[in-house]
This record gives sequence, structure tokens and C-alpha cells, in this order.
Amino acid sequence: MRRDVTLLWALRSRCALACTYCYFGTIEEHKVSPPGQLGVLSHISRNDLSARALMEFARTLDGSPVERVILAGGEPLDWPGALGLIQVLKDAGCEVVIATNGIPLNRPGVAERLVELKVDGVSVSLDSADPDTNDLRRPSRSGKTGHGDVVAGIRSLLQARGTELSPRVGLYTVVMRPAPHEITDMARLGAELGVDYYVPQPISLAPDHKLFDELAHTSDDVPAVVQELARLDAEPHGLAVPDASSLLRFAAAISTQDSGHVKDCFGGARLFFAQPDGSLWDCPSDRRIAATPPDRRRTIAGDDARSLFADRPACTDCSLFSRDCVNMWPLVLDMPRLLSSEATP
Ligand SMILES: C[S@@+](CC[C@H](N)C(=O)[O-])C[C@H]1O[C@@H](n2cnc3c(N)ncnc32)[C@H](O)[C@@H]1O
Repeated sequence: MRRDVTLLWALRSRCALACTYCYFGTIEEHKVSPPGQLGVLSHISRNDLSARALMEFARTLDGSPVERVILAGGEPLDWPGALGLIQVLKDAGCEVVIATNGIPLNRPGVAERLVELKVDGVSVSLDSADPDTNDLRRPSRSGKTGHGDVVAGIRSLLQARGTELSPRVGLYTVVMRPAPHEITDMARLGAELGVDYYVPQPISLAPDHKLFDELAHTSDDVPAVVQELARLDAEPHGLAVPDASSLLRFAAAISTQDSGHVKDCFGGARLFFAQPDGSLWDCPSDRRIAATPPDRRRTIAGDDARSLFADRPACTDCSLFSRDCVNMWPLVLDMPRLLSSEATP
């Protein structure tokens, strides 16, 4: 069977951080008004699948079309079952990439175990080279951890890796309107830390989000962002970065809020999204989820990856483009180069 599917798996809802712009919203808002709509994510873990249901599904990935699993959330490495699940995914022959806030990498033994398990990539989220700016946007709930702990987590992982080639270690940075310079500042920081890859991604906020005016780009911001992306493309500081076409897509996305048309998209053909409650969608884009007809709603709970991903169209012709989509491109198209040990000197 051809293995060409990437599964973005938001494993658990909870996270020790309270990022102000997070796709998962804020606990405070959701305590007052619990989200009811289909596909809406929340850090309140009311309906997260049991460990048993997660493991049962994971075991069915062996012999399925799923080539790569990107574990995200919430924070995947805060869940006690994470390392056991990663073992099952690796035994199933999947490439495993972990999207983490980086703080759990400081826990004794975690970094070493990720190396032993031959995890393919660890993408650590950090939004600014300036600790105060990062911690303002990505504050911890306890107020006790922040930028310094993320950097320490990256260093622990690089140290545990030693001369091994895996996991490849990367930085993921959400680029916001006031700070296009972070695009190149973060590449410099990544190079100083010794990471292997770096992905700047545009912030994606609904127009009614309270931070939309402050943080979301408008078409006026395009020239400054394009200049920074061009500088990154010309001088990636020895890091693997998304290729020039992804960088162009970044620029195109922030110049519009409108729905657009995406030809030959891989959502629903090569990219799927599983939520903590088990819901399985053709694509992580909120517009696409909202447009899913009832008879196409599915769950990984009690189901088998060998049949769930068997019937999929050759390509998707999608009219539901949103800024969200741009963040999906590196997960599918750029991942092989980001994880290649030859991409970096
Ligand atoms: C939701 S987090 C989950 C994994 C992990 N806890 C982490 O911090 O990376 C995955 C990635 O999505 C990014 N993200 C969250 N909300 C976003 C938004 N509104 N726009 C763009 N990226 C966002 C985060 O910064 C992070 O890089």
C-alpha cells in the first residue's frame, strides 16, 4: 500500500501555556461559554479520548497509508502516555514529528527517550528572540516557565542527541503584524542554538478575535514581510527552511482575508486532522471542517487506519482557502527537506 498520508494529530487538549492567539482559544473564555460548534478546539479536556482508545487506533497505523504523524495538541509531551504512544507509532513504521512548547524536554529522561525512540523531528514553538515579547504572547499558566525554559529544553534535546542524526530539531515561529523582523531574528537564534530547521508561519486569527487588529497582518504589511522572507531565503543561516514557494504562499495569504480557490490541494488526499475527541477531518482548516457534511463526519475511536484512509480522492479542488491553509503546507510538502540531515551543513 502507498504510504503518503500525513496525519496532524492533536492528541490532547491540555497545555501548560496560555498562548493569547492559540487555535484552541482560552480556558477563561471557554469556562464562561463552552464551545459548542463542530470542530472547535478547546484546552478544556472534556471529551479527550481514553489512553486505551488512542493506543488501539495507533496500533492500526501499521500497514495503513499513514506515512507521517505530527503529534500536536494541546501539549503532547505533557501527557504521561506520550512516549509509549510514540513507540507504537514508530513500531508501525510511521515517521513521527512532535510539535511541542519545548518545556517538557527539560523533564528527566524525556529528551534521551526521544532520541532512543528515533523520533524524526521535534518542532519547538518560540515566537520571539526577545524573552519578554515571547512570554507576553506565550505565557505559562503558572507564571513559572517561559523563554529560558524553552531554550533550555532545546539545548537538552541537542545534547541528548549528541552525534546522532535524529531527531532533527526545529523552531516554529508565529509571525505577527508588529514584528516582521522576527522572521530573520529567529533564524539567527536558531543558528546560535544549533537547531536544524526553522519555519516561520503567519498568525491565523478569525476577524472577530480580540487580537485581530493588533496581531493579524493586513495587505499594508506585505512589503515588510516579503522583504524579511526574501532575506531569510537568501540567508537561512545554515538552517533548512521552507522552500521559496512556501514563503511566497505566506506573502500571498497575508494579503487577503478572502476565501480563495486552492487547486490540487492535498487536504483530504494526503493531509488529515484528528482532534483530541477523536474527530477525524479531511483537513485542519476551520472553513473546511465547518463545511463537512454530516455523512462525512468520522472518528478514529474504535476505527482502523487501514480502512479510514483507504477511500480518498486523488486531489481536492477546494474553495475554502483561509490563512490557516498556509500553515499546513510545510507539514506536507516541506517536511522531507526540513527533516533531511543533508539540508544543513
Ligand atoms: C497549537 S500548538 C500545539 C503544540 C504545542 N503545544 C506547541 O506549542 O507547539 C501548534 C502550533 O500552532 C501554532 N499556533 C497556535 N495558534 C495559532 C494561530 N492562531 N495562528 C498560527 N499559528 C498558531 C503554535 O504557535 C504552535 O507552533
